[in-house]
Amino acid sequence: MDTPIDFDRYDHVRPIRWLGDRLDLLDQRKLPFTVDYLSCADSEAVGRAIHDLVVRGAPAIGIAAAYGVVLATRGVQAESGAGALAGIGQRIDALGRSRPTAVNLMWAIARMRAALSGAGADWRAVIEREAVAIEREDLAANRRMGELGAMLIPPGSGVLTHCNTGSLATAGFGTALGVIRAGVALHRIDRVFAGETRPWLQGARLTVWELREDGIPATLIADSAGAHLMKTGAVDWLVVGADRICANGDVANKIGTYQHAIAARHHGVKVMVVAPASTVDMATPNGDAIHIEERSGDELLAMAGVRTVAEGVQAFNPVFDVTPAALIDALVTERGVIGHPDGARMAAVFGPAPRA
Ligand code: MRU
Repeated sequence: MDTPIDFDRYDHVRPIRWLGDRLDLLDQRKLPFTVDYLSCADSEAVGRAIHDLVVRGAPAIGIAAAYGVVLATRGVQAESGAGALAGIGQRIDALGRSRPTAVNLMWAIARMRAALSGAGADWRAVIEREAVAIEREDLAANRRMGELGAMLIPPGSGVLTHCNTGSLATAGFGTALGVIRAGVALHRIDRVFAGETRPWLQGARLTVWELREDGIPATLIADSAGAHLMKTGAVDWLVVGADRICANGDVANKIGTYQHAIAARHHGVKVMVVAPASTVDMATPNGDAIHIEERSGDELLAMAGVRTVAEGVQAFNPVFDVTPAALIDALVTERGVIGHPDGARMAAVFGPAPRA
């Protein structure tokens, strides 16, 4: 790479603050006009915050859950980690049910369980260290992915992103938004477009705010403007994150990603998916096997609490969709770039899929 990236210059927002006896989460329901942290003192509060989208984005959900496991052990007396684990099984299971699609949640909980079950008398210190490690490793992975992904983008390019995959969705820097930060820093990206991401407006409320905080100019579009934008030639790459990547390379991400990917293929726009290895789920064979979260139709029937749709109307609100591997040009993880992912290429990097 020609110039090293000044990571700190383009990365100021932090959604998660671990304070030793509580977890403070930047309340993303209130952004962009109110910057307020919600304090969680127990694992139930963390589970509620994940479910209610106080904290969101696959890696941030995993990190919050890891600290939630630490909080679940408060008040537990045990001689060993295995003893502590026996006392908090139900609390951990409840955390794991807070959202269904982002595999980082289950991954982080499994990692915390493993650390606890192998720990001796110092188990409290061991699991706190493990949660801190999960957070630190995520930031390092994002920076690495930023470098790798940005080098795929030729100078002078325009990019479109969807949802929020930035510092707000991770330990910092972001996945897809990390590639965009790096691409801007390296003068490879000239134009950044962000889809508003109906219905919860992660793009409109979070992404363009976060980029503005870091001095990166971005233009907001309606999600339905994506294909038109691609047709005009303003966009060269669609750069998105992931909530779960299957053994065959299919990718679950925010609803609307699939339609952008179809439009991209039609218009010769390249598709890049950026996600850490913690989002790869080799135990899920393909996208059909993913549990797609459905949230309340109220998210569609009202805007900012004000009803916009006639009374008595029903709404259907799936919040993720699956982009088939065949539509993906590059999958970027901290382990490297996989061009045109498929089962064999995934297995070469992440090991064979476990037998059912
Ligand atoms: O419902 P959300 O806001 O949690 O959905 C977030 C996304 O779909 C992101 O694209 C994904 O989690 C990757 S975040 C780095």
